[in-house]
Amino acid sequence: MSLNKKTKKWLEKNCNVSFNGKTVLITGANSGIGFKASELMAYLGANVIMACRNIKKAQAAKANLLRDYPKALIDIMSLDISDTSSIGAFVEDLKSGNVDVDIFLNNAGIFRKPGQTTKDGFELVMGTNYLGSYYLTEMVLPYLEGLAHEVIYINTISIIHKIGTVDYSDFFYRKHYNSFAVYARSKLCLAKYTYYISQRNKDSHVHILMSHPGIAITPLGTEAFGKVVGHLATVLGGLFNSPEKSALSLPYIIANEPPAGSISGPRGFLNGWGYPAVNKVRRNVKTGGRELCTFSSKQIENALRTKHQ
Ligand SMILES: NC(=O)c1ccc[n+]([C@@H]2O[C@H](COP(=O)([O-])OP(=O)(O)OC[C@H]3O[C@@H](n4cnc5c(N)ncnc54)[C@H](OP(=O)(O)O)[C@@H]3O)[C@@H](O)[C@H]2O)c1
Repeated sequence: MSLNKKTKKWLEKNCNVSFNGKTVLITGANSGIGFKASELMAYLGANVIMACRNIKKAQAAKANLLRDYPKALIDIMSLDISDTSSIGAFVEDLKSGNVDVDIFLNNAGIFRKPGQTTKDGFELVMGTNYLGSYYLTEMVLPYLEGLAHEVIYINTISIIHKIGTVDYSDFFYRKHYNSFAVYARSKLCLAKYTYYISQRNKDSHVHILMSHPGIAITPLGTEAFGKVVGHLATVLGGLFNSPEKSALSLPYIIANEPPAGSISGPRGFLNGWGYPAVNKVRRNVKTGGRELCTFSSKQIENALRTKHQ
């Protein structure tokens, strides 16, 4: 572990703000980009809360971080973003612990899970990346708005949102399942929703933004495609962003405070590679957010009603 020299130099040059005393909560912090974002925060002196669904994995990740940053303050919270009950319990934990949060990075996400559903009965990728993130955001924002200081709230999208489409007649791809299309839709919906609420909440002291990691080799891809991609990743890994470089969007946002609703991510070719910058928000992200919110709240309402019958 430990950060590479180029990362440290980039941080020195581009993140000239104090992270001391800041608390950064990261969902899906035990692996890939979320883990590297946690490491960057520990290196910069922030307190870190790792919100993870698997506490054993979270404890192992925390122990890894503490080996390199023994003075870091790192807490673990339990959160499964695909499960409305877990999200409810997580928000209660925030409230009962009066947990202070300055920056909230919702990074957790999945890629290719054909034939699987969430506990609430939604197709797993849409139910995690979009509906889970939607419900988490709706549940957490009132708590963050009650804090007496500025807060940055970030949802993690993907460049694949650019090829996503929204079709309410088959929102969960029940008819023709295609892993890329489902993933792209889940991230496009998350982008539309996040942009919509960022504008709705413009006058609030909770600033809502988006980040994306470009293309980085992490368990997200290697687990989805099995050994072949795993081996290819070992050979071709250098061609992609490292998870460490992709995680730099978080300190970039904290240091540069880009406008509400903006997307920060790699600035290189197709926004897949390179150091972070503010990317262009496409027109299809700026539209349809209100309709999507109405649709999503009905989906969740129905699921909760069925669950409690
Ligand atoms: N890697 C890329 O090139 C790329 C590109 C575009 C966007 N992204 C996005 O970047 C984010 C991080 O991905 P990654 O590449 O770092 O993948 P990763 O290494 O697989 O990490 C994903 C993290 O999310 C957690 N997670 C998954 N489902 C969860 C749930 N229901 N509740 C709570 N945590 C959950 C995982 O926990 P477990 O360890 O318990 O599974 C893991 O900690 C995702 O939102 C992904 O869609 C990645």
